[in-house]
Amino acid sequence: MGIQIAPSILSADFANLERDILAVSDADWLHVDVMDGHFVPNLTLGLPVVERIAQVSPLPIDAHLMIEDPDRWAPRYAEIGAASVTFHLEAARDPRTIAKDLRSLGARASCAIKPGTPVEDVLPLLDTLDMVLVMTVEPGFGGQAFMADMMPKLTALRAAADAAGRDLWLQADGGVARDTIATVVAAGGDVLVAGSAVYGAEDRGAEIGALRALAQAVHHR
Ligand code: DX5
Ligand code: ZN
Repeated sequence: MGIQIAPSILSADFANLERDILAVSDADWLHVDVMDGHFVPNLTLGLPVVERIAQVSPLPIDAHLMIEDPDRWAPRYAEIGAASVTFHLEAARDPRTIAKDLRSLGARASCAIKPGTPVEDVLPLLDTLDMVLVMTVEPGFGGQAFMADMMPKLTALRAAADAAGRDLWLQADGGVARDTIATVVAAGGDVLVAGSAVYGAEDRGAEIGALRALAQAVHHR
């Protein structure tokens, strides 16, 4: 796959959510941040809301679960229509089983690591995963500053995937914008989440196009 753009509705207007979902239909995925107020110090939305979003969204749903007990909950998001489900390694008891469950339900299986989690912790799981999400901010809030010091994680993951002959998707989430997206892609990222960059723009479609062009200009694979 080439470059894919995943706008995060965390920065959308929740009173006009369908309008704001349709406004980003030029992208590849709709990134939906599920937060439980325990794994992260913020609370967003859960299963019934994501189910409705999946029904009205023209884009497939990329569910990012910042919640405790993903062993129990992650498969439920696949069942209600998320095409890709990302759980956090730090919260998982049995990540291999979660990934296997997601795949058996027809979803792409993805695992996220927080800034403080070493990349080595996720490397042994790559054969069970379709994507790894490298957080480039502390999860919980949109609009934070991009952490360039996470780039070696992407580089290591890309090298490991290439060595295994795998088309592993590598997602970066947090602070991705016009001034940082080339850095992410140069390090090996190919699925770019952007919340405030897209929804903070007057013309969301044009911003998606601009981000995609900047990313494609440095994409070599
Ligand atoms: C943060 C979320 C992100 C957030 C990114 O915990 O996982 O998806 O929406 O927002 P920006 O792009 O504004 O950093
Ligand atoms: Zn996210």
